Amino acid sequence: MLPAGLPSLSPLRAIQELSMNDLIARRERALGPGMRLFYEQPFEPVDARGVWITDVDGKRYLDAYNNVPHVGHAHPRVVAAVQARMASVNTNTRYLDPHVLDYAEALKATMPAELDTVMLTCSGTEANDLAWRLACAHTGGSGAIATSYAYHGNSTMVSALDVVSTPSGKNEGWVATVDAPIDRSAEDGDSEAGSATFDKGMAAAIETLTANKRPPAAFYFDPLFASDGVRLPAKGAMEAGLERLRKQGGLVVSDEVQPGFGRLGEAMWGFEAVGVMPDIVTMGKATGNGYPLGVVVTRREIVQSFRNKGRYFNTFGGSPAASAAGAAVLDVLSSEGLQANARAVGADLKAALIQLGQRHRLITDVRGTGFFLGVELAHRRGGEKVPATAEARRAINLLWELGVLVGLTGPGLNVLKVRPPMVFGKDDAAILLDRFDQAMGRV
Ligand SMILES: Cc1ncc(COP(=O)(O)O)c(C=O)c1O
Repeated sequence: MLPAGLPSLSPLRAIQELSMNDLIARRERALGPGMRLFYEQPFEPVDARGVWITDVDGKRYLDAYNNVPHVGHAHPRVVAAVQARMASVNTNTRYLDPHVLDYAEALKATMPAELDTVMLTCSGTEANDLAWRLACAHTGGSGAIATSYAYHGNSTMVSALDVVSTPSGKNEGWVATVDAPIDRSAEDGDSEAGSATFDKGMAAAIETLTANKRPPAAFYFDPLFASDGVRLPAKGAMEAGLERLRKQGGLVVSDEVQPGFGRLGEAMWGFEAVGVMPDIVTMGKATGNGYPLGVVVTRREIVQSFRNKGRYFNTFGGSPAASAAGAAVLDVLSSEGLQANARAVGADLKAALIQLGQRHRLITDVRGTGFFLGVELAHRRGGEKVPATAEARRAINLLWELGVLVGLTGPGLNVLKVRPPMVFGKDDAAILLDRFDQAMGRV
């Protein structure tokens, strides 16, 4: 029963009848300042299918941003899979249930054989938090290394890896940072110099942790280095640095929350695209196409070290409904050939965005691969690039007005993030390019 005075739960009708200002005021009262809205004009979607989102006024937006609906908004096979479990029995992983095992086995089949054990969570944050417990238990270490602008989630431990917005981890001496490796498209991205720079950064991070008596337990990295500005290193560029870490006992955690599940086109997993063999892989967001599901995949011996010291239970993590969603995502990915789609459409889109850069001087680089592209906007001052932060913000708002959703990332918040659902087709790419051209002309 809702308290008197609140609208009855027929959300669509009730919401449509209220003005947007009322909604914003209610939101502010109910949710407070901790939860922010996107865009200058708040956006109120009421329906979404495939790559299209419709707002409350009936305007349609091409979604080139959301990676959670990985195989498309409201994919009927994912919806049906979740509904079937919710309508029969949906308990937890402490009971036998073939749907959970079907999912774990299907996921393992996409991984190198050494990564043979699956643990289930509700989110990317939980997966990264669990990875930390596993790494500490297995290595005996207590220090973490992340990249300078890393984001890995929102728990106390995981948010401390983000030393820019949560400097506490670093202040307490147990988090050290290393700069993201150089992008493979940069002049020295593929060279020994690029690899040496990363190795040097790793050596300094290890030294800091050792001096603080926090030997490294784990290095967390997003293989696409999205929050570091979308920088995909060449295969092998991280090898020397990671070898150094391993010699000190640290484990490598590949955070696949953004690049995983074929998004990069050239590989199913980001770690494959950059030629790294991780000890622990973490997943979230795309995993359940919107149904909360996170995953840790690692070696059995690492889980055994953890089990010897502690225990793990997650009430909702990997429930039959969540596992069914995860299995449906894998199934659709393969039956609809979506990784190949990301590779082909993404390559053409990247080439066309580079072309656009010839006409719009603010576009100083186009990075990434498949369906994860970063379009950098900067002013050239002398030999330097100065982030065009205000222009980038204006660009995403203009694109929104023109009916296209894209995001913003990077240390200077000047990289437009193009990261559509995997069903994004050639015609969608053409629309995106046209609107991009228009928006850049007006910035
Ligand atoms: C790379 C990366 N890791 C982890 C997370 C945390 O995932 P969640 O918000 O599902 O906890 C995010 C979320 O943005 C992310 O981008």
